[in-house]
Amino acid sequence: MKNISIEEFISGMPKAELHLHIEGTFEPELMFEIAKRNGKQIPYESVDQLKKAYKFNNLQEFLDIYYAGANVLITEQDFYDLTWAYLSKVHQENLAHTELFFDPQTHTDRGVPFGVVIKGIRNALEDGKEKLGISYKLIMSFLRHLDEAAAFNTLEEAMPYKDWIDGVGLDSSELGNPPSKFERVFAKASAVGFRVVAHAGEEGPSSYIWEALDVLHVNRIDHGNRAMEDMDLVDRLAEMQIPLTLCPLSNLELKVVQHLKDHPVVKMMDKNLLVTVNSDDPAYFGGYMNANYLGVAKALNMSKEQLAALAKNSFKASWLSDKEKEEKILLVDAYLKAH
Ligand code: ADE
Ligand code: ZN
Repeated sequence: MKNISIEEFISGMPKAELHLHIEGTFEPELMFEIAKRNGKQIPYESVDQLKKAYKFNNLQEFLDIYYAGANVLITEQDFYDLTWAYLSKVHQENLAHTELFFDPQTHTDRGVPFGVVIKGIRNALEDGKEKLGISYKLIMSFLRHLDEAAAFNTLEEAMPYKDWIDGVGLDSSELGNPPSKFERVFAKASAVGFRVVAHAGEEGPSSYIWEALDVLHVNRIDHGNRAMEDMDLVDRLAEMQIPLTLCPLSNLELKVVQHLKDHPVVKMMDKNLLVTVNSDDPAYFGGYMNANYLGVAKALNMSKEQLAALAKNSFKASWLSDKEKEEKILLVDAYLKAH
């Protein structure tokens, strides 16, 4: 074991990200640049002033600013630049694989065609695979504050691009919008061959996690923090090894936890839950993958073995093939042994 710092250990460790909204990677500098070239106004005078607005008391306060920011994205090049900026950043953090969300309705509702959005994102992802060696899966997420008909419409719009989409998800305002609202859309998406995931138990109750499992038949839960309030649910998640994609800095910034010391990640690992660490919306929450790992590592005094277990979980819980998963897990094991 070399005596390297925990920062260096985390930074060099191969890892996968499974919960990332591409619109949530929109850094203020790029937002101003794209707004300018599209002749769009941002209601803030400067990057600094915009950053000062990033103080949230709950999920909705964040979503209002996040959707406003996304409004300046218009052209295929905009979506390419957004995605490329994310990939360049995480490349420096030794990210090997990413499974990212995009929210088509945020753009199609403003008149930006579905094809423009997905082509820009996909071209950057393909370039990232080729030039940076980052593999990827793409997840189309439905906005749960909108109705079922709108989600069906989006599923229809996605059909010409079906082969570019690996799964569907469910995000946006959780409280009052239970998974069951989208039972039929998810049934159709599954029938078409998409994998299905859903945000549940971030702000919403543990019953939303049961619904995501039993009504939407998801094979992964995004967040899932509130599972810890229901030990029958914890047993079910552990037994089935349903992955939870946790997002520590997001939880802190959206007041899901009051302090990172209160974050459930280690307690969940102790309960044999398949948990992973992710960045959610890193441009808004103060950090990408390594900052999220470091946040919990420091607050919860985690060992290198525990951090490597999280990285191995990230591959185990991914949609890579069994062979690819095995290769990546061996890499993490070798990394741990060497450090
Ligand atoms: N969209 C982007 N980030 C989100 C989050 N943390 N929860 C729900 N919807 C989101
Ligand atoms: Zn999310």
